[in-house]
Amino acid sequence: MEFSDVLQQRRSIRAFSDTPVSEEVIDALLTQALESPSWSNTQPYKVAVARGAQVDTLRQALSERFARVSTLQRAPAWKKLAAAVRGGVLPDGDFKPILKYPSDLQPRRVATGHGLYNLLGIERGDHAARDAQMARNFSFFDAPVALFIFAHKGLGAYSALDAGIFLQSLMLAATDQGLGTCAQGALALWRSPVAAEFDIPADYQLLCGVSLGYPADDVVNSYRPERRSLADLKVPSR
Ligand SMILES: Cc1cc2nc3c(=O)[nH]c(=O)nc-3n(C[C@H](O)[C@H](O)[C@H](O)COP(=O)(O)O)c2cc1C
Repeated sequence: MEFSDVLQQRRSIRAFSDTPVSEEVIDALLTQALESPSWSNTQPYKVAVARGAQVDTLRQALSERFARVSTLQRAPAWKKLAAAVRGGVLPDGDFKPILKYPSDLQPRRVATGHGLYNLLGIERGDHAARDAQMARNFSFFDAPVALFIFAHKGLGAYSALDAGIFLQSLMLAATDQGLGTCAQGALALWRSPVAAEFDIPADYQLLCGVSLGYPADDVVNSYRPERRSLADLKVPSR
């Protein structure tokens, strides 16, 4: 594919077919993504690849965690507290979930969410349908592969920057091969289920997950959220 076509065609895929993706194909994508630049070529990232039985184990474990949290959100305060004390329910990811968005970013976040729900015919007040759509994150939108991206904590923001560049290379390489991806911060909410499956080095923090597979023929995959204008992007001169 032309590079400009790859850039245009890469969009977050939120419905996957059950067509399997071989280990060779995944390794080829990872090898391409390893061409990415990084701070002093430190390549401060690691990837856990879940497929086959492992992806199903994680699908189930993460979906269960989300279901328990969703139930808790509607539970009385004492029950939430008791559950937190018992542990295992509240997110145990390496980064805190973003609960309050900066006011200048919040409108864009809201517009993106509403656009997706509108496309899916989900009404504003339909919390059950919204929860169900959110829950799809944890079943990897039925993808046959889930990747978990870790960044070394020793380089601070630069590890995350490098991991982000790597992630984009990976997603573009996948698009070029006719595969679909969805980067998912939601998949970094819990570290323990991932740590139960993979021997993650202690210095590496779970940044996000990526669902990977062949896109299904589903309206959700036609979503094209708006981009900011060039004028809005550029910092004005004094
Ligand atoms: C770091 C990161 C985290 C994201 N987390 C999620 C997520 O948890 N769930 C989801 O459905 N989409 C997630 N997305 C996808 C964004 O919503 C999407 O990239 C954005 O709306 C632009 O749409 P596009 O990717 O289709 O161009 C994430 C994207 C990035 C880069």
